[in-house]
Amino acid sequence: MALFDDLEQRLQRTLPNARIETTTIPDTTISLGLINADFSTEPLSQPSMNAVLAEPAYWSFCWGSGRGLAAFLTGHRQIVADADVLDVGSGSGIAGIAAAKLGAKSVTALDSDTDALAATRANATLNDVDVATTAEIVDIGKTFDVALLADVLYDKANFDLIRRIEAIAETLVIADSRIRDLSAFGFKIVERYESVTLPNLGEFDEFKTVNIFLKT
Ligand SMILES: C[S@@+](CC[C@H](N)C(=O)[O-])C[C@H]1O[C@@H](n2cnc3c(N)ncnc32)[C@H](O)[C@@H]1O
Repeated sequence: MALFDDLEQRLQRTLPNARIETTTIPDTTISLGLINADFSTEPLSQPSMNAVLAEPAYWSFCWGSGRGLAAFLTGHRQIVADADVLDVGSGSGIAGIAAAKLGAKSVTALDSDTDALAATRANATLNDVDVATTAEIVDIGKTFDVALLADVLYDKANFDLIRRIEAIAETLVIADSRIRDLSAFGFKIVERYESVTLPNLGEFDEFKTVNIFLKT
């Protein structure tokens, strides 16, 4: 069975005509199985829309923030080299896979969506790196040198997640194109990257700048 067959079937539960295509992420050595770039943007029927909203396949996109975080790690390799790394809200696995390629000692991906964890595992295999996966923080039972959070604050409930991750990780790196200020949480903006989601969702220009927030 090909690496992404099972994920493609899961994707087709909500988007019957969608496919998974292996996509090389520009400016990286990373390839990911993502939704086909020419996926239909025709309006969905109401039942299809309800299904997509109930089970959004975030893992089938490489979000602009994930790309920005991978670029930041590439320029600041020392943050993840030889470190135990946690990728929170891993989706496709872009951030954790970048960390693994840059010499992390271990990478664990955390995502509440088990399809995302399957995607992260498949993409880790595709990139020939080791990434462990878990759906629950309590499953982890260890502490980390670094936690990476790319595009997880779209859900306001996830601001609480920052506090929970702080309890188990020494350094936190957050990448987000919608959040402008996390100083109330003790974070500083250390870099900015221009980045778009792949496949391109045609996001507004104001959401194409990814802020990298760091707290040590
Ligand atoms: C927009 S995607 C970003 C994926 C990836 N980090 C990237 O940048 O391409 C957000 C991911 O976070 C996951 N997520 C959202 N809230 C979460 C939570 N509280 N705990 C774990 N995962 C969460 C979602 O299931 C989804 O896979």
